[in-house]
Amino acid sequence: KRRLGILISGRGSNMQTLVEASRTRESPYEVALVASDKPDAAGLAWAAAHGVATFAQSPKGMAKTDYEARIDAALRDAGVEAIALAGYMRLLTDGFVQRWRGRIVNIHPSLLPLYKGLDTHARAIAAGNAEAGCSVHVVTEELDGGEVLGQARVPILPGDTPDTLAARVLAEEHKLYPRIVREWLNR
Ligand code: GAR
Repeated sequence: KRRLGILISGRGSNMQTLVEASRTRESPYEVALVASDKPDAAGLAWAAAHGVATFAQSPKGMAKTDYEARIDAALRDAGVEAIALAGYMRLLTDGFVQRWRGRIVNIHPSLLPLYKGLDTHARAIAAGNAEAGCSVHVVTEELDGGEVLGQARVPILPGDTPDTLAARVLAEEHKLYPRIVREWLNR
């Protein structure tokens, strides 16, 4: 099996679905490490409680390249071959992306190329869009700009707030991400 590393910053619900999906005979990957820039991320505790190796490194008080070198070393020490970003809310440097070129994917809560960056659901509602969704894409130096590997759509309903829409999209993220990661690692 391929050794997948997952980077998170918080709750880690997408990470959980990836771990759960990896624990089948057909899965092309196993989760070798869950790493976070937030030592108190709830997802780290979940991963540890479910037998997954974890690593935390706060970037506070460090040069960004030093912080990333620590993450990079932890991933390599764990034998990681490919990386899935799952609510990792920090920009990767060009150097990191280049060292892992073509081997990082991300899930983003919009129908890319619409709404790169933050506050995607508020922006989709404010624009009067009829639909929203999520995208899994290859990570390149351009923020949320790499090849889109798969998307899922949901309707935007009257009265939706960013929170109600986020919940509807998140349910689709949990189905989309394991499927696309499996396809990506099999291709
Ligand atoms: C997810 O909705 C994910 O798409 C989004 O953050 C949430 C993380 O939830 N990611 C981004 O906005 C990336 N810029 P989770 O921690 O429960 O997976």
